[in-house]
Amino acid sequence: MTAHYRYPSSKHDFYRGQWYNPEKGTYLGRTPDSWAKIGLFYLIFYGMLAALVAICMWVFFQTLDPRIPKWRDEESIIGTNPGLGFRPMPDNNEESTLIWLQGSNQTNYEKWKMNLMGFLSKYYTPGMIEKGNVPTKRCSYDEPPVRGQVCDVEVRSWEPCSPDRHFEYHRNAPCIFLKLNRIYGWVPEYYNDPNDLPEDMPQQLKDHIKYNITRPLERNNVWITCVGENPADVEYLGTVKYYPSIQGFPGYYYPYLNSEGYLSPLIAVQFKRPRSGIVINVECRAWAKNIKYSRYDRSGSVHFELLID
Ligand SMILES: *[C@@H]1O[C@H](CO)[C@@H](O)[C@H](O)[C@H]1NC(C)=O
Ligand SMILES: *[C@@H]1O[C@H](CO)[C@@H](O)[C@H](O)[C@H]1NC(C)=O
Repeated sequence: MTAHYRYPSSKHDFYRGQWYNPEKGTYLGRTPDSWAKIGLFYLIFYGMLAALVAICMWVFFQTLDPRIPKWRDEESIIGTNPGLGFRPMPDNNEESTLIWLQGSNQTNYEKWKMNLMGFLSKYYTPGMIEKGNVPTKRCSYDEPPVRGQVCDVEVRSWEPCSPDRHFEYHRNAPCIFLKLNRIYGWVPEYYNDPNDLPEDMPQQLKDHIKYNITRPLERNNVWITCVGENPADVEYLGTVKYYPSIQGFPGYYYPYLNSEGYLSPLIAVQFKRPRSGIVINVECRAWAKNIKYSRYDRSGSVHFELLID
């Protein structure tokens, strides 16, 4: 084993590592000519690399539709199971689900009314978007929207759940509005066969689907039921009315494709004569074959309490 060491044995070697070698005319070991060649090489090399990156970015942005979310369905955190939400939203507090209503106290019912109006204003002036207006369409089962069209939600015809009647909060017969969370591209699988309805569906809804709706096409809805959670709650809650009377979100609102000005369909649920002085537990549930329901994690349903004072 012999190790090879090199010692500066000549003048040439002495200049190694020096800025300038006057003997060979090199700077940092290269002649200006050599530096120019290597500089040119890197210039072209990085130039081509930059061009390649630019082309890739361009292709990427060409395939990106701003209306289509990049991550969808199972991959997204929200998942494919749409949740239900209700309005008005109880006081500032995120956790609270108690609607405490004093119909005889004007400050109180005006507060609930304002709360609802904040949410509903875009429904009373449909088509208003930041950039101006989009036309809305009065859709029906026979005339669903075509791509890009937005269906009107006819909240204006849902008397007495209207602002001029204070949504009946002043009469202790509050209207609660429900909406299904938006999931891009989600299409409900309807319970539209009256002879094939789930066991746990309330009889009232089964009868409604079977007897009140005679046109099969009009059974293509995400159905809604609101019931007291326990037998006592059922009794205290009393009569429940739904607006529109179809008792669901019509199928023609789906799928949601992020069209400009899209309005989520709503349903107003009115409790005509809830018992006063007691907290009533209410559960509203959305019915479609592809809405999973679990009482435990409240998926496919929403819970709130009603207290009439
Ligand atoms: C009326 O309602 C307001 C708002 O909820 C509340 O602050 C006020 O104490 C109520 N008045 C009475 C007399 O209960
Ligand atoms: C649905 O039918 C039931 C009984 O068949 C009836 O009592 C109820 O009023 C009907 N509801 C509507 C909205 O037509």
